[in-house]
Amino acid sequence: MLLLPSSLYGLARPFLFGFDPEHAHELTLDGLARTQNTPLACAYAAPRVDDPITLAGLEFPNRVGLAAGLDKNARCIDAFAAMGFGFVEVGTVTPKAQPGNPKPRMFRLPQRDALINRLGFNNEGLDAFLANVQKARFRKNGGGGAGKKPMLLGLNIGKNAATPIERAVDDYLACLDGVYAHADYVTINISSPNTANLRTLQSDEALDALLGAIAERRQALAQRSGRRVPLFVKIAPDLDQAQVDVIAATLQRHGMDGVIATNTTLARDAVAGLPHAGEAGGLSGAPVREASNRVIAQLRAALGPSFPIIGVGGILSAADAKAKIAAGADVVQIYTGLIYRGPALVREAAQALLQQSRSTA
Ligand SMILES: Cc1cc2nc3c(=O)[nH]c(=O)nc-3n(C[C@H](O)[C@H](O)[C@H](O)COP(=O)(O)O)c2cc1C
Repeated sequence: MLLLPSSLYGLARPFLFGFDPEHAHELTLDGLARTQNTPLACAYAAPRVDDPITLAGLEFPNRVGLAAGLDKNARCIDAFAAMGFGFVEVGTVTPKAQPGNPKPRMFRLPQRDALINRLGFNNEGLDAFLANVQKARFRKNGGGGAGKKPMLLGLNIGKNAATPIERAVDDYLACLDGVYAHADYVTINISSPNTANLRTLQSDEALDALLGAIAERRQALAQRSGRRVPLFVKIAPDLDQAQVDVIAATLQRHGMDGVIATNTTLARDAVAGLPHAGEAGGLSGAPVREASNRVIAQLRAALGPSFPIIGVGGILSAADAKAKIAAGADVVQIYTGLIYRGPALVREAAQALLQQSRSTA
């Protein structure tokens, strides 16, 4: 059973890599959506590693999560639950449906286990997203096996491309209102490089205003519902120490519950000269690892030992996952590693982190 996902993925990968990357992605998601909650899910299912950790008041069943952007419309939550993730983040969702940037807009750089994408938040909009989230069964069937706590679900929110950046807060508030009741945590994504000016929301005054408005709305939603949903903010790797310090202080000032570091990078030094290296967009996978780990270490230094940090960027192996924790992350997420290594990476990384936490306990 344990070998099944990796051996099957070994067969599937050359087939999938024969297609244009976005087409391969859609084929995979269609397949997962059709087979989740059926006996065919055994092709990618794996027993979930049990390594609970409490962060931001939430019990994460283990330390390995799915990063946002792989399942933008929340169609395959149960399939990812079956792969053994401790938490799954879907989105980025925007208030209205939008097509994203013109194709082609996703490129493989296999020599470096990397991708470049400039999708631009292509998604079916908040209503369709919420309908899919509500269809997911992982909370009913346990997700990790009978009697086990369900995995956690993060809902990642953004702004429409057509909304002027000065009105971005309206989009985030509309999304927050919509997703609040359905999320274990909500991620405020201000770090995609593919929506014009989005990353300017990371700068001092803009971030202060945005998080102030979001914190106020969360307070109202918490009072109305009797449930305070943790808010995480997702940031870029392309930040210097001073910028990281300001972000850290702003997150704490507004009572944010955690930070996700990092999104894709605009840097190209690690892939210079390779085919597609000159494509515009965000670079992910192995080449973003170092910058991601640097930002995580800077955040940990600035935020102190107990502020939750979710580490993401360039995890292709169990050793990479351990390095993220060593840099200062509490839990990790993967995206590009899943494309290059397949679902076996989930259990491999979760088991390595379990062993690491036992040996340092
Ligand atoms: C094709 C693609 C689409 C992505 N879309 C999103 C997104 O919609 N929202 C988001 O927060 N991050 C998005 N990301 C960023 C990932 O969640 C992750 O932060 C980044 O890829 C670094 O992790 P990795 O090296 O494991 O891929 C996307 C990444 C890729 C490769």
